[in-house]
Amino acid sequence: MKKAIVLNNLKHSFNNKIVLNNINLSVDEGEIFGLLGPSGAGKTTLINIITGQLRCSDGSSKVFEHDSYNLSADDYKEIGVMMDNFGLYERLNCYDNLKFYQMVDGNDSKNIDEILIKVGLYGAKKTNVSNLSKGMKNRLAFARAIIRKPKILFLDEPTSGLDPTTIEAIHKMILEEKKKGTTIFLTTHNMYEAEKLCDNIALLNEGNIVEYGKTKEICRRYNHQKKFKIHLNNGEDIELNINEESAELIKEYIINNKLETIHSTEPNLETIFMELTGKEFDK
Ligand SMILES: Nc1ncnc2c1ncn2[C@@H]1O[C@H](COP(=O)(O)OP(=O)(O)O)[C@@H](O)[C@H]1O
Ligand SMILES: [Mg+2]
Repeated sequence: MKKAIVLNNLKHSFNNKIVLNNINLSVDEGEIFGLLGPSGAGKTTLINIITGQLRCSDGSSKVFEHDSYNLSADDYKEIGVMMDNFGLYERLNCYDNLKFYQMVDGNDSKNIDEILIKVGLYGAKKTNVSNLSKGMKNRLAFARAIIRKPKILFLDEPTSGLDPTTIEAIHKMILEEKKKGTTIFLTTHNMYEAEKLCDNIALLNEGNIVEYGKTKEICRRYNHQKKFKIHLNNGEDIELNINEESAELIKEYIINNKLETIHSTEPNLETIFMELTGKEFDK
């Protein structure tokens, strides 16, 4: 599989304070990769480094085999970035923001209306950014990131602080981009978002990657309890160890139509993060 991003022993410090510590990571072309961590973990700094906005103190970062800090104008045509307040002009309306951006790119594909419809902002085409809600701004920032049809899309907490309907809409658009073959690097501190969207995730804590893999695999790795949680239709909740005796009991519950639900007990990412770091994920 071709690699879209390769990070080797990447380190970064601000004023002698280490904020990224020896990051080794690769992202395959076409995958959705999620960097999950509490605020202050180093997520935005890493996106700034990979997209060439910041030079790492040590190690290397490559995007499609090109050094991040030496990306050319042509390389940037293949990169879409959505970050807080990144590149939206408050005094221009939605249409003109996208038009301006296309002009800078030397792109005259005139698909602005189409994209405004897609992100649900066609009705607000002539509204200035300063008068948009946070959810509308996020959708416009998403439109701005995808308008150049990038090969790789960086989304820094694309749904943070949004209402459930807007979150759902953005998730749908992210998955549509993936279908087109776009590689997506997103950061989030929402483990449900990571679980729903990402092919692979990394848990970042104070600049260190403390876990990496597919969400379900990671959860299975930390399933120390190995039990079944059972809810019977008389309202009783029971936990059973996985053994022959339990199998007999479960069989009986099923035959006698007593079993309502049965679940395995692997922990979620939040619990795993706590086990690894001794602290809670912030919300
Ligand atoms: N420009 C900067 N100068 C100094 N420290 C910074 C700068 N940017 C970020 N930091 C620090 O680096 C750490 C990681 O920040 P950041 O990458 O923004 O984390 P996240 O995006 O995960 O919330 C934090 O401790 C933050 O205070
Ligand atoms: Mg951040």
